Amino acid sequence: MLTPDLLDRAVELLRRGGVIALPTETVYGLAANAEDELAVRRVFAIKGRPATHPLIVHIPDEEYLPEWARVVPDEARALAKAFWPGPLTLVLPRTSKATDAVTGGQDTVALRVPGHSVAMEVLERLGGGVAAPSANRFGRVSPTTAEHVQRDLGSEVDLVLDGGPSTVGVESTIVDLSSGAPAILRPGGLATEDVERVLGRTVPVRTSTTVRVSGSLASHYAPRAGVVLAEPDEVVQRVEALRAQGLRVGVLGPASLSLPDDVQRFDVPGEPAQAARVLYARLREADEQGHDVLVACLPAASGLGIAVRDRLSRAAAPR
Ligand code: TXA
Ligand code: MG
Repeated sequence: MLTPDLLDRAVELLRRGGVIALPTETVYGLAANAEDELAVRRVFAIKGRPATHPLIVHIPDEEYLPEWARVVPDEARALAKAFWPGPLTLVLPRTSKATDAVTGGQDTVALRVPGHSVAMEVLERLGGGVAAPSANRFGRVSPTTAEHVQRDLGSEVDLVLDGGPSTVGVESTIVDLSSGAPAILRPGGLATEDVERVLGRTVPVRTSTTVRVSGSLASHYAPRAGVVLAEPDEVVQRVEALRAQGLRVGVLGPASLSLPDDVQRFDVPGEPAQAARVLYARLREADEQGHDVLVACLPAASGLGIAVRDRLSRAAAPR
């Protein structure tokens, strides 16, 4: 388990330019002191991520907003009050503290207070911002356990903190409040309906912008096997058709599906929040079984189902 010593070591590493894997409630992050440009560059190098793709700065609490954002509109305050710590990222005009290394040269910065005791403890002890993308190689499935990180990047990071499986399971919802009307740049662990309820207006999802949101590239979150999407009533038919082509087929979906006995199923419940929690772990497990194709049963398109459908669509996109 996590001892105070280990937390001290994590903070010390961050102070000295180290890169560590940090558990959050959404996914595990690859963390560096956001004010240390060299350390931030190492994060990009480890991930293999293009330097123009900006990172999220994780802060200990809402009080740190003005250090990083030169404008904090009322709507940002309202969302922060309602959902931080939690799976919400706000994009706001940056201060000079948010350097080009972190923002990819943009005039805005993405900020979030994570809702995980280990991440919060580390941020509080550090007393500053931590830049952290998901701790996977660029374009691959995000990690939701320390073991996932160990397997992908273990030899390249200075420390992996184990905070147990991420409870939300998909990345944070990104809300752009940097200019004009609010928009969702990435659906995620906070439902659009919840954002709209607090802001008292509809908030459009705007995933294809000129802003470089790597999670919004068509092909992302990709396992090695092909992924085919299916509504619940289409799954069996899809499976039969793919097997008729001689392909090894696995299914991601709920136990309620009536599949042929010899088809391997990886349990992704139909209820959206439960599906979100296990999605990435199941994608990884399924991928390790060497199937040619995974037929993914889509959850309902409401609540966290929007984020799950979004990630599955990207996993299914041609590459
Ligand atoms: O849940 C999460 O958000 C996780 C955990 C570790 O906090 N982090 C995460 O980071 O998903 P990453 O780097 O994999 O995705 C961050 C997204 C990227 O798509 C990036 O382009 C976008 O945030 N982003 C960062 N700064 C931005 C900005 N100034 N404007 C628009 N998008 C931005
Ligand atoms: Mg990512």
